[in-house]
Amino acid sequence: MDFKDLVQARYSCRAYHDRPVEEEKILAVLEAARAAPTAANRQPFRLVVVTDPHIRGSMKGAYNRGWFYTAPVILAAVGAPGENWVRSDGKNYNDVDVAIVMDHVTLQAVELGLATCWIADFDPDATRDILHIPDHMEPVALSPLGYPADSPRPKRRKPLEQLVIRDHF
Ligand SMILES: Cc1cc2nc3c(=O)[nH]c(=O)nc-3n(C[C@H](O)[C@H](O)[C@H](O)COP(=O)(O)O)c2cc1C
Repeated sequence: MDFKDLVQARYSCRAYHDRPVEEEKILAVLEAARAAPTAANRQPFRLVVVTDPHIRGSMKGAYNRGWFYTAPVILAAVGAPGENWVRSDGKNYNDVDVAIVMDHVTLQAVELGLATCWIADFDPDATRDILHIPDHMEPVALSPLGYPADSPRPKRRKPLEQLVIRDHF
């Protein structure tokens, strides 16, 4: 799949087959994450890969949607704010770094016939408890990973004229 088709094919999948994800596909997704650029190459993130059925079930406490906690794999993208680059005015780039990592994950997944769904509306404290995330790290995004059991909807996006400014505002 070329890149143009890949970005169009990625969508937020909210139904997954039970079929397990092959370990080599999980590894390919993780390698794509590892290749992500991060500010000053600090790589201030961890990816928690949850395949254990009991822990996946417990993730109901973090985000109570059946399509999420029954998916064959749940990924948690965790930022390590103490490790990331900070601009001289204090702006912290940890969320940006983690978002790029997750974007690599979601796009690589599509190329492998898999699907994902960004989830930010989760309970961070419950996620910390369930996944034993250390206090100095922060869960930034969750996503199921698995074979899609639904179909993409047409993309609704603003026209380029509303999104792009040529030269200056
Ligand atoms: C940062 C971020 C957070 C999101 N959080 C959620 C979420 O908590 N639950 C959910 O169902 N979808 C979530 N989404 C999915 C968006 O609703 C979705 O990406 C958007 O509607 C565009 O649809 P598409 O991904 O199918 O192209 C999130 C997406 C992003 C980028």
